[in-house]
Amino acid sequence: MWPLLLSVLSAVSFFVPSVVTTSISPGFPNGKIYGVNLGSWLVLEAWMLPQEWLDMGGQMCDDCSTCIASEWAFGRAFPDTVDEIFNKHWESWFSQTDVDTMARLGLNTVRIPLGFWIVEPIVDRSTEFYPRGGIKQLKRGLSQLKAAGISAILDHHALPGVQTAGQMFTGNCTSDVEFYTEANYHRALVWTAVMTGLSHLDPDFGSVFAIEAVNEPIMDATQTPGYGDFQVNFVKVVRAVELALGITVPNEGSALSSRASNNATASLLQTSKELTSSSDTEVAQALADAAPVLAEVLSELGLASLLFNGPPLRTPLVTTFMDINWQFNSPPNPAAAAIGPQGYDNHLYYSFGGVADPNPDAYLTSICNLNRVQADAALGNSPLWFGEWGLPTQFNATDDFLYQWADAQKLAYSQSAGWIFWNFKVEMSDLAGDLSRQWSYFDAVNRGFFSPIPAEIHNPSVCAPFIATASSS
Ligand SMILES: *[C@@H]1O[C@H](CO)[C@@H](O)[C@H](O)[C@H]1NC(C)=O
Ligand SMILES: *[C@@H]1O[C@H](CO)[C@@H](O)[C@H](O)[C@H]1NC(C)=O
Ligand SMILES: *[C@@H]1O[C@H](CO)[C@@H](O)[C@H](O)[C@H]1NC(C)=O
Repeated sequence: MWPLLLSVLSAVSFFVPSVVTTSISPGFPNGKIYGVNLGSWLVLEAWMLPQEWLDMGGQMCDDCSTCIASEWAFGRAFPDTVDEIFNKHWESWFSQTDVDTMARLGLNTVRIPLGFWIVEPIVDRSTEFYPRGGIKQLKRGLSQLKAAGISAILDHHALPGVQTAGQMFTGNCTSDVEFYTEANYHRALVWTAVMTGLSHLDPDFGSVFAIEAVNEPIMDATQTPGYGDFQVNFVKVVRAVELALGITVPNEGSALSSRASNNATASLLQTSKELTSSSDTEVAQALADAAPVLAEVLSELGLASLLFNGPPLRTPLVTTFMDINWQFNSPPNPAAAAIGPQGYDNHLYYSFGGVADPNPDAYLTSICNLNRVQADAALGNSPLWFGEWGLPTQFNATDDFLYQWADAQKLAYSQSAGWIFWNFKVEMSDLAGDLSRQWSYFDAVNRGFFSPIPAEIHNPSVCAPFIATASSS
């Protein structure tokens, strides 16, 4: 199915192979990542704001593909008002007040879930009914975060064609999963090129230090054909756009010329031409298709595509993937795709089952003996961070348990490069009931489960009774 791409990989690579650098970007938050997700902002998940969703005109149903329970279904139902209604949501769900709260709580990072539709020229309006205008909100939010000194990860959370079945977080609840096809991989690469360009060209994107390829692909790798080739192309696209903008990865030579022109569009097209002649055709095509799209989006944001005359002001982005152990059945290893700084993201929720028996002791025994950081490091997936986790449980948790549960998870994840809680907040309403107690970082701090200082835990010995004794022979 992928003979062309496979042959490209073995052809002359535009990057001269050299030492794989594992150092992280200078834009990386100092010390550990202490962060929250900006979930339900630019990719809305109705379950997180049930009353607001109904007020907007949405619906709730057991099978979310059968009613207006996703952005796609909403846009189809309300084509004339979807943009305006969503703009109100974007303004209110994440605002300066939230940024101030994050800064007060010592958080240094946000992960921002984004849909492919935020790059509007790649959307097929005949079937993809998503709201327009998100890119301006992203710019607004990033500038507020930058002013507060908070770093950002751009997370491609909802992929063209839908990357997994029956989930609101893909934008469309459907069993029709079509991301793992040539055409949609290509659109995702164009998205990547545009977001990389914006990150370096728009000063408001200055706090973006990482870009994540695919949020939560299907876990069974036999159902994600071509994903390994996509990983390789994703990194090449990021690095090729950066080269075109004059940003080089330290210790990586390149056969491509860096910054052929002070006109970003012209420079991207020149880089694309050079890639074509080194037969990296898919990457070349992604750049060629991205060049006019980037120019259009920049102009929409009121920016010119001309580069500064001085030296580049930015360093390479940290390319980011879900870790190899996210998948099973011989998954591709994203470490094989790395050129320059790269990071790995693992998600861990106990509330959906399959991790530990549904009782407090089993949860603590599991988390206190977590070996994911070591297992990933053994496969080159380092630095790793926990990009999604929460306090939810499959049983009714007491406050006493949640103090321990919060401490034990923070202890476990602190063995990695850090953690990013899901979510910064959820709705607080009669309809939402107790939702915020275990899903909202802000509320969990208010209730005392988390200290207002992220590095601090209530009881550093919380795991002592649960740590397995050293292996006996
Ligand atoms: C969205 O989901 C519906 C089913 O709920 C499906 O019929 C449709 O093809 C999907 N559209 C896109 C663009 O993903
Ligand atoms: C930049 O280059 C593109 C492609 O060659 C061209 O269409 C555009 O007019 C140029 N822009 C400026 C400001 O020179
Ligand atoms: C948790 O408590 C609620 C109401 O307080 C109850 O309806 C539910 O059955 C309880 N769940 C479990 C798993 O005990």
